[in-house]
Amino acid sequence: MKNTRAYISAIGMYVPEKRVTNDDMAHLIDTSDEWIRERTGICERRVVADGECNSDLSVKAIENCLSNSGVKAEEIDLLIVPTVTPDMVFPSTACLVQEKLGAKNAWGFDLSGACSGFLYGLATGAQFIQTGTYKKVVVVGTDVMTSIIDPQDRTTCVLFGDGAGAVLLEPTEDEGIGFLDFLLRADGSGGKFLHMPAGGSKIPASHETVDKRMHYVHQDGRTVFKFAVKYMTEVTSEILQRNGRVSADLTLFVPHQANLRIIKSTANRLRLREDQLAVNIERYANTTAATIPISLCEAFRKGRLKKGDLVALASFGAGFTWGSVLLRWGI
Ligand code: COA
Repeated sequence: MKNTRAYISAIGMYVPEKRVTNDDMAHLIDTSDEWIRERTGICERRVVADGECNSDLSVKAIENCLSNSGVKAEEIDLLIVPTVTPDMVFPSTACLVQEKLGAKNAWGFDLSGACSGFLYGLATGAQFIQTGTYKKVVVVGTDVMTSIIDPQDRTTCVLFGDGAGAVLLEPTEDEGIGFLDFLLRADGSGGKFLHMPAGGSKIPASHETVDKRMHYVHQDGRTVFKFAVKYMTEVTSEILQRNGRVSADLTLFVPHQANLRIIKSTANRLRLREDQLAVNIERYANTTAATIPISLCEAFRKGRLKKGDLVALASFGAGFTWGSVLLRWGI
């Protein structure tokens, strides 16, 4: 009997039209284009229009993805929405997306894995394909980070943007393509270094939580930076090693886009060449669950990937969560 593997059969993305440059930010807070570029590599980010929410971005990214596949929304079996910025606590964004998209035969759920959410979602979705349970799974990493960043906190507000990236997973028996391995990690002791303190059952929303600005992202940037480099390097080395590969075998390495210095330090430690790296942080900043599918989508559309190419994805985010996925490109 042949092994069934999951593979990415289509990919799509959506970013809001509104661009906010570093100079625009410098008009609002005490910062500068020079500081942001030098410390983060970010030049601009996309921001939702008034009233535009997570499910709107998700639907547009999925429609973009499906338009490249010939697959109709009604054919989707399962919708996974990795996000930390759902439309609302409940119903899940997956249900709202299902309705707007007309994916009437799908069930779905949101997945809270922060910047690792997309890789957690890929690994989860692929299991449903590999077991033969489903034929069409959509994973859409979407975040509207501007809904939870403090516009007055210069140490966080310059770092994030809004966007969505979607993939369609289908089965294949072609041994030259598809997912090879997943390596996912979590360490809850890192939770305090990157979190949104209020709005959940621990500290419900109140006038006091709003006054204390507790519904925004709070982070210890230096600690996050240090662990991001260490863990993305370790997990990528380990997944390559246990699959009998070295970094030189990779056509493309797609890291989470949080800071260009994190990306470069990780790439240096992995001894990757610049032409192996997917980087687009300069245009979108950190879109949390969306950075990896958006980067992968853009690299594919630029002709940087062909069928059979070896690709590693790597993430690090709140939780702490981190992970790596190794695959052979299948489109
Ligand atoms: N504009 C101008 N100055 C700023 C600034 C901004 N937007 N943000 C911070 N500064 C200042 C600080 O106040 C500090 O000033 P001080 O020395 O007078 O106190 C100085 O710049 C240096 O701050 P520091 O925090 O040491 O800078 P850094 O080089 O560590 O860069 C981050 C800060 C946040 C960019 C960096 O730590 C980072 O990217 N960390 C990871 C964050 C992340 O990726 N989070 C998402 C997780 S996936």
